[in-house]
Amino acid sequence: MAQPTRLLFVCLGNICRSPSGENVMRHLIEEESLTDAFELDSAGTAGWHIGKSPDSRMTAAALGRGIEMKGRARQVKATDFATFDYIFAMDRSNYEDLIEVKSQCETPSAKLQLFCELCEEHEEKEVPDPYYGGPEGFEKVLDLLEDGCASFLRDWRKENER
Ligand code: 4NP
Repeated sequence: MAQPTRLLFVCLGNICRSPSGENVMRHLIEEESLTDAFELDSAGTAGWHIGKSPDSRMTAAALGRGIEMKGRARQVKATDFATFDYIFAMDRSNYEDLIEVKSQCETPSAKLQLFCELCEEHEEKEVPDPYYGGPEGFEKVLDLLEDGCASFLRDWRKENER
């Protein structure tokens, strides 16, 4: 069997946006019976919330769409650039921080990309940080993630003929 495609979603704290990216994608690949074809994870550029579960507001919003939130926060590390095929940054600040992390990896092979480049139905360039805002921010995060993840999967299917 072909090697799994390895995707890492990265935001600042790894308790709102990136665990949602990971779990939205997991939900989609489970629906499409593609779980063996992928390895998914998420991480934060900051280490503030290491070991914590996803934010309860984010978890509730995801559950409202039938998406279960799993995982514990961790900080991104240089070797992630050698382990993953794609690393998706939620915003430009994450992207800039990831370029610095990548520079510490001896054999970086991951493709680093702003997540919103995947989106087909949204014009936004970044997934906005919902942490200090109201409930609509968490819904916006999910709108963008569902769009980008579905679009990635469509393209992946074309390339992998499944
Ligand atoms: P995330 O959201 O980067 O999407 O996980 C945040 C979580 C926590 C904080 C900021 C953003 N914080 O300041 O603790």
